[in-house]
Amino acid sequence: MPASLKWLALLFGATALAALIAGIAMYAETRTRSRIMAEQVSGGDSKAGRLAIAAYGCGSCHVIPGVPGATGVVGPSLDKLAIRATIAGRLPNAPAAMEHWLRHPQTVVPGNGMPEQDVTARDARDMTAYLYTLD
Ligand code: HEC
Repeated sequence: MPASLKWLALLFGATALAALIAGIAMYAETRTRSRIMAEQVSGGDSKAGRLAIAAYGCGSCHVIPGVPGATGVVGPSLDKLAIRATIAGRLPNAPAAMEHWLRHPQTVVPGNGMPEQDVTARDARDMTAYLYTLD
C-alpha cells in the first residue's frame, strides 16, 4: 500500500474513532440530563427507585428498561413512561399522581390487574424518579 494511502486509512480510522467517542459522550450526557430532570421533578432518587422496582418485583408484570429481568407482559411496558399523557388512562401523568398510583392502584381503578403492595411513600417517590428517566 502506498504511504499516502496508509495515512488516509489512518486519518479515516482516527475520525471514525473520534465520532464514536463523541457519540458515546453525547449519549451519556443525555442520560445524565434525563436523570437530573427526573429527580428534580419528582424529588426522588432514581437509583434507589430502580432498586425498589426490582425489590417489589414490578418486572414480573411489566417490561421496564434498565431493570434486569423485568420482562413481564401482564401490565403495559413502562418504556417511555416519562412522555406519556396519562397513568392507566385515568390520572394525568404527574409526580404526585404517579406516587398515588404506585401506592394505591386499586383505589384509582378498582379491580385492575395491579395489586396494592404496601409501597411506602419514600419508595413511591424514588420509583417515580426512576420511571421518569424512561423517556
Ligand atoms: C400482578 C401484576 C402487576 C404488578 C406486580 C405491578 N403492576 Fe403495574 N400494572 C399492572 C397492570 C395490569 C396495569 C394496567 C392497569 C390499568 O391500566 O388499569 C399496570 C399499570 C401500571 C402503570 C401505568 C402504566 C400506563 O401505561 O399508564 C405503572 C406506572 C405501573 N403499573 C407501575 C408498576 C410498578 C412500579 C410496580 C411495582 C411496585 C407495578 N406496576 C407492579 C400490573 C402489575
